[in-house]
Amino acid sequence: MNKIISLLILLFLFPVLAYGGLPESLKNGKEIYRAYCSVCHGDKGDGQSFVRNVIKTPPLDFTKKELADQFTVERMRWAILLGKPDTAMPAWRFELTALQISDVITYIRKEIMGLKLTAPVSPEPAIYK
Ligand code: HEC
Repeated sequence: MNKIISLLILLFLFPVLAYGGLPESLKNGKEIYRAYCSVCHGDKGDGQSFVRNVIKTPPLDFTKKELADQFTVERMRWAILLGKPDTAMPAWRFELTALQISDVITYIRKEIMGLKLTAPVSPEPAIYK
């Protein structure tokens, strides 16, 4: 009987625990976005920034639904790590840690792209956690 109760408690707690990191990641991700990304991508992530007027390839509008369909977490992670060739998008791998990159992806996906997330994007591979 005790085992069943423990199991029920665990089952109940699991989503709560899994969700626990999300507000924290969103908070950190927002700070990182404001500090490093919004200058080009715009405060709302729609690419409307002063910088868009002075670069050849303007930043994308992250709020467009088509992008949410195309942009996997991995695609975003690689673009942020390595930058995007032939555009002004810089590489951030020497500036931001793997966790910071994950947090900014979490923030963009949830708050800007409007995707439903139940847990934060986690850094890969697991050794960087
Ligand atoms: C100097 C301006 C600039 C800054 C700062 C900047 N970006 Fe970009 N970013 C761009 C441009 C330009 C593109 C290319 C748009 C295109 O391909 O149409 C881009 C593209 C991207 C893409 C899409 C890449 C793809 O797969 O096509 C992502 C994701 C992204 N940026 C995230 C970020 C994040 C996160 C930050 C902050 C850590 C950041 N950017 C900072 C200019 C910038």
